[in-house]
Amino acid sequence: MRHLLSIDDLERADIERILDRAASFAEVSGREIKKVPTLRGRTVVNLFYEASTRTSSSFELAAKRLSADVVSVRSVGSSVDKGESLKDTVQTLSAYDPAAIVIRSPHVGAAELVARWTTASVVNAGDGKHEHPTQALLDVYTLRQRLGSLDGKSIWIVGDVLHSRVARSNVLAFQRMGARVTVCGPPTLIPRGFESLGCEVAYTLDGLPAADVVYALRMQHERMQEAFVPSLREYAAVYQIDRGRLRPGQLLMHPGPVNRGVELAADVIDSPQATIVAQVEAGVVVRMAVLFELLAGGHAPEVAAAPAPQPAEAAA
Ligand code: NCD
Repeated sequence: MRHLLSIDDLERADIERILDRAASFAEVSGREIKKVPTLRGRTVVNLFYEASTRTSSSFELAAKRLSADVVSVRSVGSSVDKGESLKDTVQTLSAYDPAAIVIRSPHVGAAELVARWTTASVVNAGDGKHEHPTQALLDVYTLRQRLGSLDGKSIWIVGDVLHSRVARSNVLAFQRMGARVTVCGPPTLIPRGFESLGCEVAYTLDGLPAADVVYALRMQHERMQEAFVPSLREYAAVYQIDRGRLRPGQLLMHPGPVNRGVELAADVIDSPQATIVAQVEAGVVVRMAVLFELLAGGHAPEVAAAPAPQPAEAAA
């Protein structure tokens, strides 16, 4: 596999292989020195044209823990600010001969365009409201840790589905792993024809108690040019996940950042049912596994204990 642009690039077996490798990298994250030499001498460029805390920091850490050289470019403070086009920026950064370019952009299809302009492997870290495949992978990883398997599980994705790249990637990934997915929100925030992805669509939370997992989405104010709900207070009254709506035993997920008091009430955010911190932790090892898959795939990961000294070194 050369690029990771969409969950559609992955079969179930690919997802399982990447996540098994992520689990082996979790052992590295538990060490005092959290590094393996796998990508020593290779360069990873992180190109972030949109706000990001979790995704950008975890991609940076993932590349560093694999010993790659990392260049992180943000639109603010770079020549992108001066009007340099995406193509020119990619060509400029290609002069460093990167092995991988990780890109986040507000534009649908940006990662696919970058893949046409470079010989590096490209990872889509979010392209507008289209896809965010590594988020879906880290969410499946988190659920496998908690539930063992997703086969036959019911997952409800609740909120602003219309503007969410996480919703699209997660519907595809959860279904590929055997789960049944329902998306739920006000009609104005569910894209028309979304059922064609294979999921159910609901406009009320009536069926929520039957879910094994409740996945809340952020209201994406930055992508709204008009009012999609009468007010946030009315939205919260109908769709907010709070103590009363979360059944004991259900898991609660959210990709972050959370709008406290809008899609989630404070009492559930900090409850043991919430996996929000585990999702962030999973982000590092899953992104290590993705970089490994694209740049070093096919070889066994070098996560074993430090190699025994070679006879020549031992004698020296
Ligand atoms: C998501 C994103 O950027 O699409 N966040 C993330 O990557 N952790 C979801 C969001 O911003 O709501």
